[in-house]
Amino acid sequence: MAAPMSTNSLMAKQNVLAESSEENKEAEGKKKKAKKNREQAWAKEGPRDPFEMLDSLPEEKQQEIQKALHLFSLGQGLPKNLQEARRHTYRFWDTQPVPKIDEKVTSCGPIESEWPKVREESYSLPQGFVWDTLNLTNQDQLRELTDFLNENYMEEEVEDNRPRPHYSPQFLLWALCPPGWQSCWHCGVRVDSNQKLVGFISAIPATIKTFDIELKMVEANFLCVHKKLRSKRLAPVLIKELTRRVHQLGISQAVYSTSAVLPKPIASCRYWHRSLNTRKLIELNFSSLTRNMTLQRALKLNRLPEITKTTGLRPMTSQDVPVVHDLLKEHFKVFSLSTVLTLEDVEHWLLPQDGVIDTYVVESIDETVTDMVSFYTLYSMAQDHQVHKVLKAAYVVYCITKATPLLQLMEDVLVICKAKGFDVFSALDIMNNKAFLEPLKFRMGDVHMQYYLYNWRCPDITSNKVGFLLK
Ligand SMILES: CC(C)(COP(=O)(O)OP(=O)(O)OC[C@H]1O[C@@H](n2cnc3c(N)ncnc32)[C@H](O)[C@@H]1OP(=O)(O)O)[C@@H](O)C(=O)NCCC(=O)NCCS
Repeated sequence: MAAPMSTNSLMAKQNVLAESSEENKEAEGKKKKAKKNREQAWAKEGPRDPFEMLDSLPEEKQQEIQKALHLFSLGQGLPKNLQEARRHTYRFWDTQPVPKIDEKVTSCGPIESEWPKVREESYSLPQGFVWDTLNLTNQDQLRELTDFLNENYMEEEVEDNRPRPHYSPQFLLWALCPPGWQSCWHCGVRVDSNQKLVGFISAIPATIKTFDIELKMVEANFLCVHKKLRSKRLAPVLIKELTRRVHQLGISQAVYSTSAVLPKPIASCRYWHRSLNTRKLIELNFSSLTRNMTLQRALKLNRLPEITKTTGLRPMTSQDVPVVHDLLKEHFKVFSLSTVLTLEDVEHWLLPQDGVIDTYVVESIDETVTDMVSFYTLYSMAQDHQVHKVLKAAYVVYCITKATPLLQLMEDVLVICKAKGFDVFSALDIMNNKAFLEPLKFRMGDVHMQYYLYNWRCPDITSNKVGFLLK
């Protein structure tokens, strides 16, 4: 908007000052030129690639635009708590089948009970962009998605050079291609002219139980828009298109999570972190020393035993799938929000894969598996750090103990993770995780995770009644 306005005011000034016909002619010429320029800027035959348009500007101008966009988005930034949410206008979410932010929900059920009329054609994208279904069995496309997410799956520029998530192709295959996955739910947006991937959203099938109702839903994840295209309302189009594709396959509910407060969280949870490599975490600015805490004292505080205590603790194998399945079925019973897993799901989600997912079981002397614990691996890349390049984090998925004391098993897992080169072990305060967080010296993080359901009402659920982790 700034350029046309300054051109207009310049032209107005010229009109007043131009006394001679020569000057009038010159002004007229400039006026025509400016008009032509303005018209050309929006003409169809002009440059169609938005990146080209942005990149054609001087670097300084590009940075100004990015900063302005950033400030604009900060001004209207997504609410991080309920107070902010009450003041926020949800232009998109208020049109969707989700409860209002202050709605008191007392029972479970669909918000739109009528089956929606599913539109045949995809939603319209801004000019210059096209939809593309990604084929993740194709190595090039999998690599392209990995690179896109690693460059863009983060909030606005992180000021303090903190590490940024770095997915591997194997991790994405694990997260996006579980049993029953659908290619059409790996939904990309490309720049038409050069096919550059600039947007993505995905869904995977999931059976979700809220209180005692089981429903076939999808788990929506990896919503991402290229950093240079933020705040342009592309996210709602991605969400609507994914919803359409999910409806096409006969499903009308979804579960998802994000740190932002949208209408309306069913559960609000918080991350906790246990330092395994204390010195590195401090040097990377991932954690800091509190008042009265020296590095030496922090190292001593976080010291772990050299070896594990639990007899019979070993990695899960494919023979353990049925018994782990039984343990999980039993485990899910006590939660108000949980998932229902088949044997194939257990095999996919929990069988160890190097650098992706680890699961350990405890086998007693009579060869019965009594306990299990699993965690996934997420790498982050350090930003411009002289010494450290990569941060290796473990995220606990399930921890089920029937015979081994919980604290003992979790401490053993910390010992294993330290030995495997993890720098930090993270957990949400869901399930019965709270029981081991403080005793094992986890520190409360500043990130909250809100759980949501699309087109499904259910009463609020406390974090300890949430029975599964959304990746
Ligand atoms: C999340 C992301 C795609 C949003 O894009 P954006 O350009 O900031 O937002 P847009 O202008 O396109 O759309 C804004 C609308 O999308 C909604 N929205 C933004 N992020 C959302 C999310 N994670 N989940 C659901 N809705 C979201 C906003 O609430 C807003 O709708 P409203 O008016 O009803 O409040 C983008 O910030 C991004 O890629 N971030 C990095 C990756 C990430 O954090 N993904 C989410 C992880 S769950």
